[in-house]
Amino acid sequence: MVLLSRSQIFASPTWTSFLSIVIIIGLTIITRSSSASPSPTMIKNTPAYERRSVHDFVRRHGVWLNFRDLSSQTVGGQENYRFGSHMTYVIKTVGPDLYIDMPGKLMEWGECRYTFEGREYGCNERRFDYLKNEPVFTWVERHNGDICNGTIIGGYGYQGEELYICKFEFYDFFQNTFQTLLGHLVPRLGKCFSSWYTVERSSTEYKVLADSSYL
Ligand SMILES: *[C@@H]1O[C@H](CO)[C@@H](O)[C@H](O)[C@H]1NC(C)=O
Repeated sequence: MVLLSRSQIFASPTWTSFLSIVIIIGLTIITRSSSASPSPTMIKNTPAYERRSVHDFVRRHGVWLNFRDLSSQTVGGQENYRFGSHMTYVIKTVGPDLYIDMPGKLMEWGECRYTFEGREYGCNERRFDYLKNEPVFTWVERHNGDICNGTIIGGYGYQGEELYICKFEFYDFFQNTFQTLLGHLVPRLGKCFSSWYTVERSSTEYKVLADSSYL
C-alpha cells in the first residue's frame, strides 16, 4: 500500500472528483431550495389579518382545464367513508343560474358537487372545469371571510361577487373523525361552504387557496 502525504491526497484525482460531485450536489440543493415551490398541500400558519375588505388584496385567476387528467388537477379535500378515504379535486361549474360560476368539488369516483344557498347540487350533467395545479399553490389559514394576497378566484356569485376556493376541517360524529371539506368562500358571509353527506356545512375557520409567490 502506498502512503500518500496530505497534499498528495488532496491533489489525487479521486479526491478532486469527489469534491466536485459534493459541490455540484450542494449547488443543486441550494438552487432547488431557493426556487422551490411549496406543494399544494403545504399549510402556512400565517396569522389572519383583521381586515375584511377583499379588495385590499391582490387576487389572481387559475387555469381551468376541460379534460380530466389526475396529475394536473388540484387536490382540495380528503373525505373518509366506510369504503375508504378519497381525495376531492377543485372544479368550477355553472351554478343554478347561468350568471353564477360556482367553485365545487369533484369526488375521486367522478361525481361533481357544489353547494349554493344551503343546498348541495350535483353538477355531472353540467359543464365543469378542473383547476390546473400549479407548484406555487398553497393553503393559507384565514377566518371570517378574510383572504390573502394571491388568493385564487374560484368563481362569481350574485352581482359578480368573487368566490374563492377554501377548505375546512369538519368533525364527523358518526365516524368520530375529521373530514377535510373542499368548498367555496363567500367573503360577504364570512364562511367557507361545503357539504357532507348531502348536507351543507360551513365554517368561519378555513384555509384559502393562494399563489405563494404573492405572499
Ligand atoms: C398585498 O399586495 C399589495 C400589492 O402588491 C401590497 O401593497 C400589500 O401590502 C400586500 N398586502 C399584504 C398584507 O401583504
